[in-house]
Amino acid sequence: MDSYLYRFKFVRFLFLLSILFLVLLTASLSSLQPFCHDDERSALLQFKDSFIIKKSASLDPFGYPKGVASWTLEGANSDCCSWDGVDCNGDTGHVIGLDLSSSFLYGSFNSSNSLFGLLQLQRLNLANNDFNGSQIPYGVGNLLRLTYLNLSDSVFSGQIPSKLSHLTKLTFLDLSWNILIGHIPSSFFANLTQLRYLYLSHNKLSGTLEFDMFLKIKSLSVLDLSSNNLTLLTKANSNDTLPQFHTLGLGSCNLQKFPDFLRSQNKLSWLDLGDNNLEGLVPRWMYNASRESLVRISLSNNFLKGFEQSPVVLPWSNLASLYLDNNMLQGSLPIPQPSINTYRVQRNLIREMSPLICNLSSLYELDLSYNKLSGKLHPCLGNFSSHLSVLNLRSNNFCGTIPKTWEKGSKLTVIDLSENQLQGQLPRSMANSMMLEYLNVSSNQINDIFPFWLVCNLRSLELLDLSYNNLSGKFHPCLGNVNSTLSILILRGNNFQGTIPKIWAVGNNLTVIDLSENQFQGELPRSMANCLMHEFLHVGNNQINDTFPFWLGTLSRLKVIVLRSNAFRGAIKGLEINNTFPELHILDLSQNSFSGILPTEYFQHWNAMKVVGGNKLNYMEVNSTGDGLGSSGQCTITITNKGTKLSYEKIPDVFRVIDFSSNRFEGEIPEVVGSLKGLHSLNLSNNALTGHIPASLGNLTNLESMDLSRNKLFGEIPSQLTQLFSLAYFNVSNNCLTGPIPRGNQLDTFQNNSFGGNTGLCGSPLSKKCGDFNYTLTPPYPFEENQSSESSFEFGWKVVVIGYGCGFVIGVVIGQIVITRKYGWFVKIFGKM
Ligand SMILES: *[C@@H]1O[C@H](CO)[C@@H](O)[C@H](O)[C@H]1NC(C)=O
Ligand SMILES: *[C@@H]1O[C@H](CO)[C@@H](O)[C@H](O)[C@H]1NC(C)=O
Ligand SMILES: *[C@@H]1O[C@H](CO)[C@@H](O)[C@H](O)[C@H]1NC(C)=O
Ligand SMILES: *[C@@H]1O[C@H](CO)[C@@H](O)[C@H](O)[C@H]1NC(C)=O
Ligand SMILES: *[C@@H]1O[C@H](CO)[C@@H](O)[C@H](O)[C@H]1NC(C)=O
Ligand SMILES: *[C@@H]1O[C@H](CO)[C@@H](O)[C@H](O)[C@H]1NC(C)=O
Ligand SMILES: *[C@@H]1O[C@H](CO)[C@@H](O)[C@H](O)[C@H]1NC(C)=O
Ligand SMILES: *[C@@H]1O[C@H](CO)[C@@H](O)[C@H](O)[C@H]1NC(C)=O
Ligand SMILES: *[C@@H]1O[C@H](CO)[C@@H](O)[C@H](O)[C@H]1NC(C)=O
Ligand SMILES: *[C@@H]1O[C@H](CO)[C@@H](O)[C@H](O)[C@H]1NC(C)=O
Repeated sequence: MDSYLYRFKFVRFLFLLSILFLVLLTASLSSLQPFCHDDERSALLQFKDSFIIKKSASLDPFGYPKGVASWTLEGANSDCCSWDGVDCNGDTGHVIGLDLSSSFLYGSFNSSNSLFGLLQLQRLNLANNDFNGSQIPYGVGNLLRLTYLNLSDSVFSGQIPSKLSHLTKLTFLDLSWNILIGHIPSSFFANLTQLRYLYLSHNKLSGTLEFDMFLKIKSLSVLDLSSNNLTLLTKANSNDTLPQFHTLGLGSCNLQKFPDFLRSQNKLSWLDLGDNNLEGLVPRWMYNASRESLVRISLSNNFLKGFEQSPVVLPWSNLASLYLDNNMLQGSLPIPQPSINTYRVQRNLIREMSPLICNLSSLYELDLSYNKLSGKLHPCLGNFSSHLSVLNLRSNNFCGTIPKTWEKGSKLTVIDLSENQLQGQLPRSMANSMMLEYLNVSSNQINDIFPFWLVCNLRSLELLDLSYNNLSGKFHPCLGNVNSTLSILILRGNNFQGTIPKIWAVGNNLTVIDLSENQFQGELPRSMANCLMHEFLHVGNNQINDTFPFWLGTLSRLKVIVLRSNAFRGAIKGLEINNTFPELHILDLSQNSFSGILPTEYFQHWNAMKVVGGNKLNYMEVNSTGDGLGSSGQCTITITNKGTKLSYEKIPDVFRVIDFSSNRFEGEIPEVVGSLKGLHSLNLSNNALTGHIPASLGNLTNLESMDLSRNKLFGEIPSQLTQLFSLAYFNVSNNCLTGPIPRGNQLDTFQNNSFGGNTGLCGSPLSKKCGDFNYTLTPPYPFEENQSSESSFEFGWKVVVIGYGCGFVIGVVIGQIVITRKYGWFVKIFGKM
């Protein structure tokens, strides 16, 4: 018994002892939690110091900044294992993971960077920083334990270093959205047999790529090669044993036909074959009913004509996004399954649409613009999907009236019915679309009054484009309301009459007002000076009888004023200290009755016109076939549909234009015009200007077009004009100029119709030789007889009815902001799913 008790006590003692030991052990262990190694800490700090922390280096709108900036030696912070973005091994304390994505890092990356001493690293994420066009440092090839490497969207350039192919443990490699160039040798991925995710898209890789090398990587599930300049070669077919891809991005890979190996890809969820040379019909096996896994397909930008066996309904049963835009699809619109969410078929040759479109009750975006659809709009279009947000039917041949089925609770934010032949009234039920931000019904035959019932009810409307219809009637004060979100109002080319109403309240949000090509009369209402957000005012081609609106000069954002072809009159004066039009880029006063001398004082103050360039990067150049020109060939404010959210750029930033042509201006061209260095186009044609052409015009080095024709200018053409290297149009004909035409540079490129009608001019390209002609004897002031009949300004009133056209020289640049990197992230985030 004793011994039993003794033994019991002993066991209890042992038990307590072991508990104590455990407690001590845990305590000592926790105090011994591996602390960051000194050499690794200094490597990290050196890494941090080799870059500048700059906010603009990380553009990912969804990435949150990591705290590299907080890395420091101070106090408790000196344990680098506790630093933001640093992950250490719990046993050894070695740094094994670094997530420095979106860390605002800017600067060039050196291969000897201390980072590559962290030999224990397994995961490295440097995505979304700005490494200033550095090569991918080959030092990264030393990190042989890496399983995860993300260098995407970080402004890396040059070739992919071959040392990267030593990282045989990689399962994830993302080099997408950089500026990488060069050819990828077929041996490159031979040893990367563990890869599951490989992103190389959106670079400038080129040359042929043996696709079959990827097919040996059996674990590969996600492969994105799209948006490079690659030419993909593949011999593989469906009988080979291949990896089963989940995501396959083969966009812009120069494919001529659908790769055969796709037949046996039964797990594909996302397939991108856009921007290739696929032609003919989509083969039957591509949309075999068994392909339930497909969620997203892009066949955009190919030459496809349709689907084999023309199915009425495409069988992809779980498809959410289908992109068929920019092909040559003909006949009837292929109808996807009701699972579809985003359906883009713009820019094809589709003629018919089955009423089955009404079954697509999950649709969020439907874009059928730029096709050949005709007939009446199906009544369901206003209400077939309660999710519908974007409905774009622009530029088809739809006729009849707009359906009245716009239901309450509709989620529509964008309705574009422009460039069709729709008639009748705008249905009042459109006001049910309470979330509407953008309504464009321009270029139809709508016959209605001004839709105040819409503008007054919708609190989200930002853009209303009713141009080129048959609208008339009175405006309602809510149009210029303070609380209205309306920012862009385009009423060009309608039948509005009477005076422009005085409805513009202080604090309204209008930035663009285009009332051109109507029959407005009377004066411009002075309350327009309340439109403080105003950037663009176009009232051209009306019958407005007013003096120069100097009172708009206080509007500090106003960039474009077009008063062309009205009955404006009087001298341009009224400059006061605060109304100098400080942001003015484009002023078009042509075809009015302005008189007096040219406004020297204003020229002195138009500072925005003195700026050369502007932010060209932000704007997309638009040529005569581009999106910037509506079918009417007018420069309108362009709205391009990119992504699911429409964004539009309002005003061209780059171009500076002065057009005072066809008025009654007299006196000399002031010297100070030569200080408006940003000018791209200067038109003073068809006035009664006298004096010499100022030599200072030779300072307008951005000038692409100068028209001084049909005036009474005399003296010689200043030789300084040969400095105008950008000049593509030049006209001084029908003046009283004398002497030799200066030679050199651009001036040599113009023909004799740029100089005609100046009896005293001589030399090439005119047939009159200068030699024995004593031009200095030409009288300083012109006699009427010296002028050709063309140059007296009465003839100028042969009114040339042209809108505010995109002069062929200027090709006004209007477009959408395309900051490639930013857009990159947008696509990436919504694209990769
Ligand atoms: C960025 O690259 C340019 C051109 O290579 C170089 O001149 C500049 O010093 C670099 N800037 C930084 C911060 O590394
Ligand atoms: C469609 O897929 C099924 C099952 O994978 C297969 O049996 C059939 O032959 C395929 N049809 C075509 C036309 O490829
Ligand atoms: C379309 O919808 C109608 C009514 O909801 C239904 O009767 C019809 O079967 C659907 N058609 C298809 C092809 O899904
Ligand atoms: C759409 O409107 C039509 C006509 O008003 C109506 O018959 C139909 O039920 C509506 N459909 C839906 C899905 O609301
Ligand atoms: C413009 O208005 C002025 C002053 O009211 C008037 O004298 C003139 O006749 C008008 N001109 C036109 C073209 O209507
Ligand atoms: C010009 O504007 C400034 C600031 O808005 C104001 O203080 C000043 O009185 C204005 N001057 C004139 C002449 O209106
Ligand atoms: C200048 O204006 C006149 C008259 O308005 C017009 O005929 C001519 O085409 C214009 N010149 C240029 C280069 O646009
Ligand atoms: C502009 O041109 C005039 C005449 O050619 C010259 O005297 C002047 O220095 C130039 N000004 C500038 C800023 O280039
Ligand atoms: C220059 O203007 C005149 C009219 O004054 C016109 O006849 C001629 O064609 C114009 N030249 C060019 C190159 O456009
Ligand atoms: C202009 O050049 C054409 C041929 O290029 C010629 O026929 C014409 O006579 C010339 N006109 C003048 C005014 O020199």
